[in-house]
Amino acid sequence: MIRTSKLAGSIQPSATLAAGAKARQLRAAGKAVYDFSLGEPDFDTPKHICEAAAKAALDGHTHYTPAGGTAEVKAAIARWYKKRYGYEFGAENVIVSNGAKHSIHNALAATVGPGDEVVIPTPYWVSYSDLVGMTGATPVLVHTTAAGGFKMTPAQLRAALSPRTRMLMLNSPNNPTGSVYTRAELEALVDALQDTDAAILSDEIYEQLTFGDAKPTCTALLRPWLRDRTITISGASKSYAMTGWRMGWAVGPAAVVKAMDTIQSQETSCPSSVSQAGLIAALDGPQECVAEMRTEFAARRELTVSRLKAMPGLSLPVPDGAFYAFFDVSGFFGKTFGDKTVTDSVTFCAALLEQAHVNLVPGAAFGAEGFARMSFACGRPTIEAGLARLAEWLPTGK
Ligand SMILES: Cc1ncc(COP(=O)(O)O)c(C=O)c1O
Repeated sequence: MIRTSKLAGSIQPSATLAAGAKARQLRAAGKAVYDFSLGEPDFDTPKHICEAAAKAALDGHTHYTPAGGTAEVKAAIARWYKKRYGYEFGAENVIVSNGAKHSIHNALAATVGPGDEVVIPTPYWVSYSDLVGMTGATPVLVHTTAAGGFKMTPAQLRAALSPRTRMLMLNSPNNPTGSVYTRAELEALVDALQDTDAAILSDEIYEQLTFGDAKPTCTALLRPWLRDRTITISGASKSYAMTGWRMGWAVGPAAVVKAMDTIQSQETSCPSSVSQAGLIAALDGPQECVAEMRTEFAARRELTVSRLKAMPGLSLPVPDGAFYAFFDVSGFFGKTFGDKTVTDSVTFCAALLEQAHVNLVPGAAFGAEGFARMSFACGRPTIEAGLARLAEWLPTGK
């Protein structure tokens, strides 16, 4: 028998992917499932991106590329940041990976290890604490509240710092809460780090998906000293509906990017050549497709928020970005639904899936017990029908 490693035993499977698998099982058994568990746009990748990738394949761009991506894709990313934020950097400051998750993993592997602490505000994206744990570093969780808009304050950050703090992980717009820090809020946070050795990993993957007056901020540009202390993460999955292409990137100090490049060269050799051609078309091509998807997400947000707010017992801060609603379900704890007594977010979501076939992700997966996350990245008819089911099911709890 082959024994599995300590590392394999120390990490949890991704809760969102596991929730999606459970819904697929029910569907295979012939049940209609309203699946709100996956953070994946239902749109197909825009045609001009697919055509560019197909052309690249037919033109013979089917070989290994440099480990951190081609010069062309790096230049396209640099053009995109210059146009969007006025952020200028060279090829030595950018690396393309197999999705933003991979970029985050490599950024952490390149900068932290055993004995180091990484500050993560909760609720956090499911993978953060496991990705930190895989490096041997220790995640230090800072709990934020719905009343505070799920935002960490500078005082909370200062209280979490220790001589071992090596990094702060930020994610705005946020998965799972949809909260978006204002520029002033971010300035106050980063200033709390100025006299420390801590770096910032700023995951900005939802930067093109903000609603109403909310605006994304490129953290690295907030203060002149931050450019050398910040690793910016983003990718094509969410804004360009390119989840399956696995295109993410990191922008940061040259020495960190070089270390990430070395790690990546041993892990995966390089990101997919054909996907890199698609990414260039996404970043350089027409951006109307992004605006159209954002408009549809905004309509889905309105629908989701208005329906959830009308349900007695649920409370919900309005998400300013990304495509998630994160709502308080703790009022249902202690109630019995059918033959199931709900005691926490995990048992709440399990009973809901089993009895009403509505699939949410428990808040516990995001370090926030008492809540559930609904993705509204699916079509409006699914949102309407699934939320009608939820509205019928909730009052069955006695
Ligand atoms: C906050 C956040 N960061 C990173 C990712 C990873 O995206 P990908 O690996 O598809 O680029 C996700 C995906 O759900 C996310 O929500």
